[in-house]
Amino acid sequence: MAAVFMGEGYDVGPAPLRMLRTMTLSDTVAWHDFRIDGARLLERLDELAEIGPIDGGGSSRLAFTDADRDGRHLVVGWMRLLGLRVDVDGVGNVVGTWDVGTGAPVMMGSHIDTVRTGGRYDGNYGVIAGLEVIQRCQETGVMPPRPLAVAFFSNEEGARYAPDMMGSLVYVGGLGLEEARAAVGIDGTTVGDEVDRIGYRGTLATPGPVPHAFVEVHIEQGPVLEAEGITIGAVTGVQGISWTEVTVHGQSNHAGTTPMRLRHDPAYVAAELAVFLRRLADGLGGAQVCTMGRIELHPNLINVVPARATCTVDVRNTDEATLQIAEARVAARCDELAAEEGVSITRRPLARFEPVVFHEEVVARVERYAAELGASVRRLPSGAGHDAQMFARVCPTGMIFVPSVRGISHNPAEYTAPEDLILGADLLGRVVLDLATSDLGGQAVAP
Ligand code: GLV
Ligand code: MN
Ligand code: MN
Repeated sequence: MAAVFMGEGYDVGPAPLRMLRTMTLSDTVAWHDFRIDGARLLERLDELAEIGPIDGGGSSRLAFTDADRDGRHLVVGWMRLLGLRVDVDGVGNVVGTWDVGTGAPVMMGSHIDTVRTGGRYDGNYGVIAGLEVIQRCQETGVMPPRPLAVAFFSNEEGARYAPDMMGSLVYVGGLGLEEARAAVGIDGTTVGDEVDRIGYRGTLATPGPVPHAFVEVHIEQGPVLEAEGITIGAVTGVQGISWTEVTVHGQSNHAGTTPMRLRHDPAYVAAELAVFLRRLADGLGGAQVCTMGRIELHPNLINVVPARATCTVDVRNTDEATLQIAEARVAARCDELAAEEGVSITRRPLARFEPVVFHEEVVARVERYAAELGASVRRLPSGAGHDAQMFARVCPTGMIFVPSVRGISHNPAEYTAPEDLILGADLLGRVVLDLATSDLGGQAVAP
C-alpha cells in the first residue's frame, strides 16, 4: 500500500477525539480495513428522524421550515463535535470540513430536508454516513492526505420550492444565489426570506469551492436491488427530469344548473391530462415515467364547477431525446384540451435537468470496494434526483445505493435494513479514502 497518510500537526478543532498529530502511517488503519461505527450511524438516523416526526415512523421537514431548522441545528452540532470547520452559504447549504492534508476536499453529503410525507433515510443517510466516515477516521487515526468534507444541501426535495436540488445547483454555479433566494414556494413564501428567518444565511461565496471528488450514499428508493437480491448499487448516472406546473382556467359555475355541454371545466381537463400522462408513459415504454403529483382546484367545493385547476407534471427518462418527445407530447395535449374544452392553459417550467453520467473511476471504485467488502453489486441508473448529479458538472462524482424494502420512498414506510445501511457507509468510507489518495487519472470534468 502506498504511504499516503500524512499525520502531523493538524488542528481538528475544539473537540478532537484523539491526538491525531501523533499518528504515523504504521499506526493508522488502512482504508481497506475501514469500518464505521454502525450503532452510532443508526442512533443518529433515529435522532434526526425524531425531528418533525409523522405517523408511520417518517419525518416531515420541508425546506426552511422550523423542523428543517431544528434538523440543521442537530447536524451542525454533530459537525462541531467532530471539530469540523462549518461554512454556510446564502441559500443555507452547510459544509463541514475536516481540514487535514492539503488540496481540495473529497466531499460527501446529501440533504436533510424531506417531502411532507418523508421517510427517515432519504438524504439523511448520506449526511450521517459522511459524518460517520470522518468521525471513524478521527477515532482510528486514519489521516487522509487531503481534507474530507460532509455537506447538506438546501431544498433538495423541491417539494416546497422549485427547482429540486436547488442548494447543490447553486453550490456548483448552475443557479444564481439571488435567483434561488427569489424562488416563491407553494405557500407564497420566498426562499430568501425563509433562509434568513431560520438563521441559515451564511457568507460562504457561491459557487462554492470545487471538491476533488464527490460521493453520495443514498437509499435506492426503487425496487431493483431488493428484487435481484443485490446489496449495493454502483450508480451510473441520474435520469433527466422535467417539471412543469400546468394551470387550467375555465368557467366557474353552478354544479346543478350548468348543462354538461356548456361547461368549461378545469377539473375535467386536469383529469384528462392525468390519464394522458399514464398513456404517454405506457406508449413510450422503456424507462419513461410520468406523474401528476399535485392537483389543486379552486374554489374546491362540492357544488361548484371549478374556476381553476393547478397541477404538476413530472416527466423523467434516462434518454434525453425521448424525454424531449414526452415533453412535446404533453405540450401538444394541453393545446388540444384547451381548444376542445374552451379553457385556457398555461404551462410554467419548474425544473429541467438533462440525464447525468457519473465518473467511471468513481463508479468502478464503488464496484471494487463493494466486492472487497463481500457485497453483491450491480450498476444501475438512479430514478430519483440527487445532489450528486449537480456535482457531476464540476468534479468526478459517483453514488452508492443500498436497497429500499419494497422500493418504497417519499413515504414514512421507507425502510432499509440496518446491516445494509452500515455496509453502505463502510463502502462510502473506503471509496472516499481511496479517492483522497488518487489523482483520478487526470480525468478532469468540464465545469
Ligand atoms: C427528489 O427526491 C426527486 O424528486 O427525485
Ligand atoms: Mn434524496
Ligand atoms: Mn427525496
